[in-house]
Amino acid sequence: MLTFSFLTLFPELLAPFAGEAIIGRARQRGLLDVNLVQLRDFSDNRHHKVDDTPYGGGAGMVIRVDVAERALSSLPPADEVILLSPAGPPFTQAVAEELAGKSHLVFLCGRYEGFDARTEGLVTRELSIGDFVMMGGEAAAACVLEAVARLLPGVIGDPESHRTDSFSSGLLDYPEYTRPPEWRGQGVPEVLRGGNHGAVALWRREQALRRTLERRPDLLMAARLTPQDTLTLLALGVAAQQLQAWNAPPPPAPRRARRRKNIVVSEQPE
Ligand SMILES: C[S@@+](CC[C@H](N)C(=O)[O-])C[C@H]1O[C@@H](n2cnc3c(N)ncnc32)[C@H](O)[C@@H]1O
Repeated sequence: MLTFSFLTLFPELLAPFAGEAIIGRARQRGLLDVNLVQLRDFSDNRHHKVDDTPYGGGAGMVIRVDVAERALSSLPPADEVILLSPAGPPFTQAVAEELAGKSHLVFLCGRYEGFDARTEGLVTRELSIGDFVMMGGEAAAACVLEAVARLLPGVIGDPESHRTDSFSSGLLDYPEYTRPPEWRGQGVPEVLRGGNHGAVALWRREQALRRTLERRPDLLMAARLTPQDTLTLLALGVAAQQLQAWNAPPPPAPRRARRRKNIVVSEQPE
C-alpha cells in the first residue's frame, strides 16, 4: 500500500482531496493512505512560528530548514521526499508512474517565499506542476496525489483506461462522445455508432495522432509510433523528413493484389 505524507501549514486544504470521491473510497478500502502533518507542530517557539525573514533582505518570509528537518524525522522512512517548487523539474505522467511503484512518499508544501534553500539537501527530488507560481504547495500536492493514486491497482474501475489516457500512450487521448447523439446541430462521428470495434480502434488512433499533431507536436518525438501511424501522419500532411526526426518507423508496404488462380482475365473488345 502506498502512503502519501504531506507536510503543510494548511492540512485542511488537502483534507478534501484525501477524504472525498475516489481517493476517499480507496483509503476506506485500504488501497492507499494519506497522512496530513501540520508543520507548525515542529516549531521550537510558543507562537508556533515556522518562518523568518530572508538573509540579504527582500520581501516575504522563508520557512526554516530546522522545522522541515524535525517534521521529516518524525515520519517513518520514505522512498522519496519531494519538495514542491516552481523551480523543480516538471511533474509528468512518467514521474507519476514511477512514484506509483513506491510505498511511502513525503511531500513538502511551501508557502510564502518557500523553504530555506538548505532544505534541498533533505529531499530526494523537487517537482513543479507547471511554469507558474501559486501561493502554496498544497494545490501542487493535490495534483500529484490525484495523478499517482489513480495508477494504483484497484483504485479506478477500469485499468484499461490508463492505456489510452493522454500521455500514457505517448499521445493525447482521442475525443469521447456520449448521449445525446445530436446536440445543437452537432452529431457524433458515425463510426462510433456502427458497432465495428476494429473501425472504432482505427478511428481513435487516427484522432489521437491528429490531436497530438495539432496541439502538442513535441510529444510525437517520444511517442511509440507504429508503421500504420506513419501512414496516418503522412496522410495528415507530415513531411517524410519530419517523420524521420521523430524516429517514426517506415510505413507498411502496400498490400499486393492477390492473384486469383485459374481465372483468366481477358480484355473484351468493345
Ligand atoms: C509563492 S511560492 C514560492 C515561489 C518562489 N519564490 C519562486 O519563485 O520559485 C510558495 C510555494 O508554493 C509552491 N508552488 C508554487 N508554485 C508551484 C508550482 N508551479 N509547482 C509546485 N509548487 C509550487 C511551492 O511549494 C512554493 O514553495
